[in-house]
Amino acid sequence: MRFFVDTADISEIRDLATAGFLDGVTTNPSLIAKTGRPIRDVIKENCQTIEGPVSAEVTAADFDGMIAEGERLADIAANVAVKVPSTWDGLRACRALSQLGHKVNVTLCFSANQALLGAKAGATFISPFVGRLDDLGLDGMEVVREIRAIYDNDKSITTDILASSIRTPLHVKQAAIAGADIATVPPAVLRNLAKHPLTDKGLASFLADWSKTGQAIL
Ligand code: E4P
Repeated sequence: MRFFVDTADISEIRDLATAGFLDGVTTNPSLIAKTGRPIRDVIKENCQTIEGPVSAEVTAADFDGMIAEGERLADIAANVAVKVPSTWDGLRACRALSQLGHKVNVTLCFSANQALLGAKAGATFISPFVGRLDDLGLDGMEVVREIRAIYDNDKSITTDILASSIRTPLHVKQAAIAGADIATVPPAVLRNLAKHPLTDKGLASFLADWSKTGQAIL
């Protein structure tokens, strides 16, 4: 499973890219708003920082507006993936933008049927929002499992499942087991994947024993 980071914060993206764990970036209008910077500058900088896809979301709700905004976003860099919502107009825009040769991420997906339409519309990525379904007491990961089964039943589908709205390390593990192609993960959750109290405890005791020997590895 590949890792995207779910942030527009360039310092986080640089840090994680340097560590070598980053295959792409996803942003959304709320994450761009948090930076307080123009979307064009943020997306351009992100695209220069990593080679993988950087998702940038349209804010128009109608087909024509989405196409116009999508083309402008795609013009920023070759690795932009235009994000459109899982609405009727969004899915139509997905088809049109895909046919123009752009990468498209169909976002705000909450059902397997939306994912099926996204694949038929030529989406590069489908983004089921796991955490927001869990917030309602539903099983977000079940939607990822359903999408995996549906996509596996049709060998002509090339859309990647991008597990989104990931909130915990458990979500990451479950997404990998469910067969998601990618998970987009907030920076703090990505770093937490390396954490285990027994690792810290074990390391402390190894180092304590080692210091008693007076040795150095030269
Ligand atoms: C995905 O592309 C979205 O930006 C993101 O995963 C939404 O996550 P949230 O539900 O934690 O806001």
